Amino acid sequence: MISAHDAANRTPVSLEKQNNQTQNQPRLPRLLAVCNQKGGVGKTTTAVNMATALAAVGKRVLLIDLDPQGNATTGLGIARSAIRKSAYDLIFEEGLDPAQLAISTKVPGLYVLPSSVHLSGAEIELVTAKRREYRLRESLRRPLPFDYVIIDCPPSLSLLTLNALVAVDSIVVPLQCEFYALEGLSHLVKTIDRVKATFNPKLDIHGVLLTMYDPRNRLSGAVAEDVREFFGDKVYKTIIPRNVRLSEAPSYGLPAIVYDMKCPGAKAYIMLASEIIKREKQILNTDLATHLQEKVSA
Ligand SMILES: Nc1ncnc2c1ncn2[C@@H]1O[C@H](COP(=O)(O)OP(=O)(O)OP(=O)(O)O)[C@@H](O)[C@H]1O
Ligand SMILES: [Mg+2]
Repeated sequence: MISAHDAANRTPVSLEKQNNQTQNQPRLPRLLAVCNQKGGVGKTTTAVNMATALAAVGKRVLLIDLDPQGNATTGLGIARSAIRKSAYDLIFEEGLDPAQLAISTKVPGLYVLPSSVHLSGAEIELVTAKRREYRLRESLRRPLPFDYVIIDCPPSLSLLTLNALVAVDSIVVPLQCEFYALEGLSHLVKTIDRVKATFNPKLDIHGVLLTMYDPRNRLSGAVAEDVREFFGDKVYKTIIPRNVRLSEAPSYGLPAIVYDMKCPGAKAYIMLASEIIKREKQILNTDLATHLQEKVSA
């Protein structure tokens, strides 16, 4: 399905030979952040595989690695030594075009704006920066040659994460099916409410994703039930199983969907992508209806 093309062929989007002119026309992309301040819940695995699955069905996707750990970057086979411009530059250098910084990956249609070591200092630098909460928003809210921009957030509710929440339309929240899954979640929900009230009124939770589900473990089932009770139909129907192939893939610099597209984890992420696209259509229809209603009553 996905042909991995030459890893060395990493050109900026604008320099790419554009076979399909209309597909590459700049438009306002949908912006999604994969966010949960809890560490190790599957944010990066979700961001990488969700982005790959969307690219596999013909969407043009930019994955932004906003985590100083750089796991999405290395997981996509990009050597950190080869990085010249990163998400750090996008935040601090005004007027930079994200499409110019995007690096192509082995997955056609999937581009990455990598993390770099400089991002670890970004938190401190942001404290005194002008319009510090809006830096990413101002770089990303413009026509771009992508259908989706997906941001992999660090495991904190820091200024970097705040920048992502202020920039995006919607948030995907991965939750690990374990005993402490819901711990700290009220803090995340409160942060989202605060961002909505102060910086980004249209922000919403796109969906809550249950990850690392183990059907043999009764606790996994109980946690899944609790989460559904708490978040209702915000929880995606797709559940990501615990699957060792998902954790092996990054060490080969490949998304699991490319590494082993038949493994249960890859199949689940492909299903998630189709669920996301379905929800996107519903959101678009609701937005259109609201827009029309506003026009009629004006
Ligand atoms: N469904 C899964 N099955 C098995 N292993 C998984 C699964 N999802 C993620 N992992 C593994 O669990 C670890 C944590 O996952 P991941 O890096 O995606 O989480 P994260 O939330 O991005 O972590 P961090 O908060 O450090 O950024 C990784 O080693 C990853 O390979
Ligand atoms: Mg991560």
